[in-house]
Amino acid sequence: MSTAVRYYSRSGNTNALAEAIAQAAGTQAISADASDAALDTPVDVLFVGGALYAYGIDSHLKDYLKTLRAGDAKQAAVFSTSWISKHAIELIKKALSEAGIPVADDVLYVRGKPGAAQLAEAAAFAKRFV
Ligand SMILES: Cc1cc2nc3c(=O)[nH]c(=O)nc-3n(C[C@H](O)[C@H](O)[C@H](O)COP(=O)(O)O)c2cc1C
Repeated sequence: MSTAVRYYSRSGNTNALAEAIAQAAGTQAISADASDAALDTPVDVLFVGGALYAYGIDSHLKDYLKTLRAGDAKQAAVFSTSWISKHAIELIKKALSEAGIPVADDVLYVRGKPGAAQLAEAAAFAKRFV
Protein backbone atom coordinates (compact mmCIF):
# COMPACT_ATOMS: atom_id res chain seq x y z
CA MET A 1 0.00 0.00 0.00
CA SER A 2 1.64 3.22 -1.14
CA THR A 3 0.55 6.57 0.23
CA ALA A 4 1.38 10.23 -0.15
CA VAL A 5 0.34 13.33 1.77
CA ARG A 6 0.12 16.73 0.09
CA TYR A 7 -1.31 19.83 1.74
CA TYR A 8 -1.05 23.56 1.98
CA SER A 9 -1.07 25.41 5.29
CA ARG A 10 -0.56 29.10 5.96
CA SER A 11 -0.45 29.05 9.75
CA GLY A 12 0.23 25.43 10.70
CA ASN A 13 -3.21 24.01 11.50
CA THR A 14 -3.55 21.85 8.39
CA ASN A 15 0.15 21.08 8.56
CA ALA A 16 -0.36 19.51 12.01
CA LEU A 17 -3.03 17.18 10.59
CA ALA A 18 -0.84 16.40 7.58
CA GLU A 19 2.05 15.38 9.82
CA ALA A 20 -0.18 13.14 11.97
CA ILE A 21 -1.69 11.50 8.88
CA ALA A 22 1.73 11.00 7.29
CA GLN A 23 3.16 9.43 10.41
CA ALA A 24 0.23 7.01 10.70
CA ALA A 25 0.39 6.18 7.00
CA GLY A 26 4.16 5.70 7.01
CA THR A 27 5.00 8.49 4.62
CA GLN A 28 6.05 12.15 4.62
CA ALA A 29 3.80 15.18 4.51
CA ILE A 30 4.91 17.45 1.68
CA SER A 31 3.67 20.97 1.12
CA ALA A 32 1.95 21.55 -2.21
CA ASP A 33 4.48 24.25 -3.10
CA ALA A 34 7.57 22.17 -2.27
CA SER A 35 9.95 21.26 -5.09
CA ASP A 36 9.29 17.56 -4.43
CA ALA A 37 5.49 17.80 -4.30
CA ALA A 38 5.00 16.09 -7.68
CA LEU A 39 4.26 12.37 -7.40
CA ASP A 40 7.13 10.36 -8.86
CA THR A 41 5.07 7.20 -9.09
CA PRO A 42 1.33 6.53 -8.76
CA VAL A 43 0.10 5.86 -5.23
CA ASP A 44 -2.76 3.85 -3.77
CA VAL A 45 -3.94 6.65 -1.50
CA LEU A 46 -3.23 10.34 -1.87
CA PHE A 47 -4.19 12.38 1.20
CA VAL A 48 -4.87 16.00 0.27
CA GLY A 49 -5.40 18.75 2.83
CA GLY A 50 -6.13 22.44 2.81
CA ALA A 51 -7.87 25.19 4.70
CA LEU A 52 -10.53 27.69 3.72
CA TYR A 53 -9.55 31.33 3.22
CA ALA A 54 -12.37 33.72 2.33
CA TYR A 55 -14.46 30.91 0.84
CA GLY A 56 -11.60 29.61 -1.31
CA ILE A 57 -8.52 27.43 -1.05
CA ASP A 58 -5.00 28.80 -1.28
CA SER A 59 -3.66 29.28 -4.81
CA HIS A 60 -0.64 27.04 -4.06
CA LEU A 61 -2.99 24.14 -3.39
CA LYS A 62 -5.20 25.06 -6.33
CA ASP A 63 -2.18 25.06 -8.64
CA TYR A 64 -0.98 21.73 -7.27
CA LEU A 65 -4.40 20.13 -7.78
CA LYS A 66 -4.31 21.24 -11.41
CA THR A 67 -1.13 19.18 -11.95
CA LEU A 68 -2.80 15.92 -10.91
CA ARG A 69 -3.92 13.41 -13.51
CA ALA A 70 -6.10 10.29 -13.52
CA GLY A 71 -3.88 7.39 -12.55
CA ASP A 72 -1.69 9.43 -10.19
CA ALA A 73 -3.65 7.90 -7.33
CA LYS A 74 -6.14 5.02 -7.05
CA GLN A 75 -8.05 7.17 -4.60
CA ALA A 76 -7.74 10.42 -2.69
CA ALA A 77 -8.73 11.20 0.88
CA VAL A 78 -9.38 14.82 1.85
CA PHE A 79 -8.75 16.67 5.11
CA SER A 80 -9.23 20.27 6.14
CA THR A 81 -9.24 22.81 8.92
CA SER A 82 -11.04 26.14 9.14
CA TRP A 83 -12.79 28.42 11.61
CA ILE A 84 -16.25 27.11 10.86
CA SER A 85 -16.90 26.11 7.25
CA LYS A 86 -16.20 22.72 5.67
CA HIS A 87 -16.34 24.19 2.18
CA ALA A 88 -12.63 23.58 1.45
CA ILE A 89 -13.39 19.87 1.49
CA GLU A 90 -15.89 20.29 -1.32
CA LEU A 91 -13.49 22.48 -3.32
CA ILE A 92 -10.64 19.98 -2.98
CA LYS A 93 -12.94 17.04 -3.77
CA LYS A 94 -14.19 18.81 -6.89
CA ALA A 95 -10.65 19.50 -8.17
CA LEU A 96 -9.64 15.88 -7.57
CA SER A 97 -12.73 14.57 -9.34
CA GLU A 98 -12.07 16.89 -12.27
CA ALA A 99 -8.55 15.43 -12.45
CA GLY A 100 -10.14 11.98 -12.71
CA ILE A 101 -9.06 10.75 -9.28
CA PRO A 102 -11.71 8.90 -7.26
CA VAL A 103 -12.33 10.59 -3.90
CA ALA A 104 -13.29 8.76 -0.72
CA ASP A 105 -16.47 9.83 1.09
CA ASP A 106 -14.58 9.51 4.38
CA VAL A 107 -13.05 12.93 5.16
CA LEU A 108 -11.37 14.60 8.12
CA TYR A 109 -12.36 18.05 9.29
CA VAL A 110 -11.00 19.90 12.34
CA ARG A 111 -12.07 23.32 13.54
CA GLY A 112 -9.03 25.52 14.21
CA LYS A 113 -5.77 24.30 15.67
CA PRO A 114 -5.72 20.52 16.23
CA GLY A 115 -5.10 19.38 19.80
CA ALA A 116 -4.05 15.95 20.98
CA ALA A 117 -7.54 14.48 20.45
CA GLN A 118 -7.74 15.80 16.89
CA LEU A 119 -4.25 14.53 16.07
CA ALA A 120 -5.30 11.08 17.30
CA GLU A 121 -8.38 11.41 15.09
CA ALA A 122 -6.09 12.23 12.15
CA ALA A 123 -4.02 9.12 12.79
CA ALA A 124 -7.20 7.01 12.97
CA PHE A 125 -8.39 8.60 9.71
CA ALA A 126 -5.14 7.60 7.99
CA LYS A 127 -5.31 4.06 9.37
CA ARG A 128 -8.76 3.56 7.85
CA PHE A 129 -7.10 3.78 4.42
CA VAL A 130 -3.88 1.82 4.96
C1 LIG B 1 -7.52 35.47 5.55
C2 LIG B 1 -8.26 34.31 6.16
C3 LIG B 1 -9.53 33.99 5.68
C4 LIG B 1 -10.25 32.93 6.26
N1 LIG B 1 -11.50 32.63 5.78
C5 LIG B 1 -12.22 31.65 6.39
C6 LIG B 1 -13.55 31.37 5.95
O1 LIG B 1 -14.07 31.96 5.00
N2 LIG B 1 -14.23 30.40 6.60
C7 LIG B 1 -13.70 29.69 7.64
O2 LIG B 1 -14.40 28.84 8.19
N3 LIG B 1 -12.43 29.93 8.07
C8 LIG B 1 -11.68 30.88 7.46
N4 LIG B 1 -10.41 31.14 7.88
C9 LIG B 1 -9.82 30.32 8.96
C10 LIG B 1 -8.80 29.31 8.44
O3 LIG B 1 -9.40 28.43 7.49
C11 LIG B 1 -8.29 28.49 9.64
O4 LIG B 1 -7.59 29.33 10.52
C12 LIG B 1 -7.43 27.31 9.18
O5 LIG B 1 -7.31 26.40 10.25
C13 LIG B 1 -6.06 27.79 8.72
O6 LIG B 1 -5.34 26.66 8.36
P1 LIG B 1 -3.75 26.71 8.15
O7 LIG B 1 -3.15 27.06 9.49
O8 LIG B 1 -3.44 25.32 7.75
O9 LIG B 1 -3.46 27.72 7.12
C14 LIG B 1 -9.68 32.19 7.33
C15 LIG B 1 -8.39 32.53 7.79
C16 LIG B 1 -7.70 33.58 7.24
C17 LIG B 1 -6.33 33.91 7.77
